[in-house]
Amino acid sequence: MSSILLSNIKRSYGTQTVVDDLSIEVEDGEFLTLLGPSGCGKSTILRMLAGLDQPTAGNIMFDGQRVNDTAPGHRNVSMVFQSYALYPHMTVRENLAYPLKKRRVAKSERKRLVAEISETLQIVPLLDRRSSQLSGGQQQRVALGRAMIRDPDVFLFDEPLSNLDATLRAHMRAEIIRLHLKLGKTMVYVTHDQIEAMTMSTRIAVLDGGKLQQLDTPAEVYARPATRFVAGFVGTPRMNFLSGALVAGEGGSLFRSDDGIVEVALPGLHAGNLAVEAGIRSQDIILTDSGPSGTVTLIESTGLECFVTVTAGAHDIVVRLDESNGLRIGQTVHFGLRPGKLHLFDAGTGLRINLPDEAAQ
Ligand SMILES: Nc1ncnc2c1ncn2[C@@H]1O[C@H](COP(=O)(O)OP(=O)(O)OP(=O)(O)O)[C@@H](O)[C@H]1O
Ligand SMILES: [Mg+2]
Repeated sequence: MSSILLSNIKRSYGTQTVVDDLSIEVEDGEFLTLLGPSGCGKSTILRMLAGLDQPTAGNIMFDGQRVNDTAPGHRNVSMVFQSYALYPHMTVRENLAYPLKKRRVAKSERKRLVAEISETLQIVPLLDRRSSQLSGGQQQRVALGRAMIRDPDVFLFDEPLSNLDATLRAHMRAEIIRLHLKLGKTMVYVTHDQIEAMTMSTRIAVLDGGKLQQLDTPAEVYARPATRFVAGFVGTPRMNFLSGALVAGEGGSLFRSDDGIVEVALPGLHAGNLAVEAGIRSQDIILTDSGPSGTVTLIESTGLECFVTVTAGAHDIVVRLDESNGLRIGQTVHFGLRPGKLHLFDAGTGLRINLPDEAAQ
């Protein structure tokens, strides 16, 4: 078993701080994803977990033991990289057996483990091929096998699927989920792909600029993004945002967009005169007979659903509709927001402002 605790981790390069006061607890058997844009510090965090890099400050604990100074080879972690880092001149069999050979595992045991792992990953027919003769997906599978064969306590993945085409990526995503279910091992997975994060993880740590934005289940991150950044980063299509202010209204506050096009009453919320950004997901906008209006400027069909861009004043608002919506470009439509579905963020701090019914939860 292996739980991981990162406490107040900082990593600086010269004057640049790339990981800032990061504290995360990864439970035993958890699939935790580090999600964030390029350069936010994901690989740096993973490398520190693997022992390939050292924190400037803070502690890393595995099962309650401080491992800051423990060499990579003594941490019992396996890392799978974006580039598969296989030995091209070796066969698949040799690549798989290599970590065992290095650890002086007996030949008969090596043979048994290679057979077992290649069975699990369905790469038996590839065993005698050189890794340079494999497709990207096949190489990724072998890289996974090489990580598994040592039976590590912790798996670390650094964007392992980003070199694969969309179909293969979806396939390997499912394979890794199955692998996690089967092995029950602690896994820390790095990606900037929010679909991967949403579908694979038990919890997601969303990062921006080396700082933790939110650590929650995928459902929570989606339903109650803790910051404006998380709201804009998670969800496809991207959440619609309207800048505006909270002003005093009847029985509570009123959100009014800067251009005055959208007004939403927020009964029970007593926050006035505060600059905010309001977010609303495409499925939480409804077309109505009255209310604010805009012009249909773009229609994007996926075959299953349709994303319609309504331009209202300076805003392009994306609305999710059924395929059979009958709308045409240039048409004027009225829209409204589903009650209780507005997300509010303080324009200054970017932090979420909970609506009264949420605060009670
Ligand atoms: N050895 C280094 N020296 C100086 N700066 C570094 C070094 N390694 C990483 N950085 C910087 O640290 C920041 C975080 O890098 P990191 O590789 O962790 O980002 P990332 O989130 O993994 O990005 P990506 O999604 O592009 O892989 C970046 O600004 C990067 O330039
Ligand atoms: Mg990286």
